[in-house]
Amino acid sequence: MLRESEVLALLMRRKANHSLAQALYTDPGVFDVDMNQIWYKSWLFAIPACEIPKSSDYVVYEVGAYSVILVRGNDGEIRAFHNSCRHRGSVLCKSKNGRNPKIVCPYHQWTYELDGGLIWAREMGPDFDAKANGLKVVHCRTFSGLVYICLADEAPEFEDFAAEAQRYLARHDLENSKVAFESTIVENGNWKLVWDNNRECCHCAGNHPSLCLTFPEDPSYIGNSGDDSLASVLDQHVARCEAVGAPSAYHMSEQGHWRFVRTPLVGTSESYTLDGKAAVTKPNSSIPFKDAGSLLKMLYPASWNHFLSDHSIVFRITPISPTETEVSTKWLVHKDAEEGVDYDLKRLTEVWIATNAEDKEVVENNQRGIMSPAYEPGPLSEKHEGGVIQFGDWYARTLTQAITGQRLVAAE
Ligand code: FES
Ligand SMILES: [Fe+2]
Repeated sequence: MLRESEVLALLMRRKANHSLAQALYTDPGVFDVDMNQIWYKSWLFAIPACEIPKSSDYVVYEVGAYSVILVRGNDGEIRAFHNSCRHRGSVLCKSKNGRNPKIVCPYHQWTYELDGGLIWAREMGPDFDAKANGLKVVHCRTFSGLVYICLADEAPEFEDFAAEAQRYLARHDLENSKVAFESTIVENGNWKLVWDNNRECCHCAGNHPSLCLTFPEDPSYIGNSGDDSLASVLDQHVARCEAVGAPSAYHMSEQGHWRFVRTPLVGTSESYTLDGKAAVTKPNSSIPFKDAGSLLKMLYPASWNHFLSDHSIVFRITPISPTETEVSTKWLVHKDAEEGVDYDLKRLTEVWIATNAEDKEVVENNQRGIMSPAYEPGPLSEKHEGGVIQFGDWYARTLTQAITGQRLVAAE
């Protein structure tokens, strides 16, 4: 089990444009360092706000050692609190989701308002200060219908991302959407392998027959080719979408931890369906044509999302152990779209349910091969695996910076 200084030494010895050292994908010490230095310090996409549409709706989001309650208050605001009672620490919300007018501890019934204030505690004496015993707050921001949290005491800068997310998502009405379906799977692979796999599509032709009907595997379509070249088809698509007020141009953050780009789908495809036609007749975007492609949004370390003209899909990953990662997928449609009338659930979800299962298979094979003593970091293709190179560089830079306390300037 590696210590932080040993993880740093491994990062220093990293070979550029290669997959990472074995221990970075397998070692429990590295896993702890990843959680402490990246996951507990970064802004994480938690849930779509429409998952808790009414006041007193809550969901519980578990990240590593933490359990967080996301709850909508009587004022409509979504807040996040640590799911640990201020009395003797019991878990407060035992279910994954539900509706509670107050948060009541199941142990001795200390009772909290939805804004975290303690309003009842049994006979604590005249000197008891209820105000000092409210729920511990987790940083929480909601914009464009998506909720993000940060577990750090001091959250890092988030305004650039917030401004860009609101600009890119202006034509996607997630506030008036609902979760049509959700799937949660566990991939027996390190969280970085889930990202490595997500950041390239040179595995697509051999593994994703249904996704390849509509999603372009050419990395230049989504700005993932190592030389920063963008295909002219992407340029034309961006110009056409921007002409109707749908921001679309490729934009990677200076630190390389978020990116937006609206990529065209294959040919005249409208959505991720087997026939390429829209899956939902009551769309949750106001883009005036159906073949608007997919707005790809990623925010390391926890999420990538796809926003189409007719629906949206939000993905969230959560590390469970060095070799297990939860992948949650939610399909969002307009809140007034009726199943069986405006969309068929199978048609809406089948491409990405199959794609997730196929990705689980390749990620698990990758993990198993890396566990072999014979594994050594292998070379990446700058043309096809520019996204994997970018992710590895971001990871190494972010972790090095977090461990040493030094600010490193992004190479992108
Ligand atoms: S631990 Fe919550 S009321 Fe006692
Ligand atoms: Fe894939």
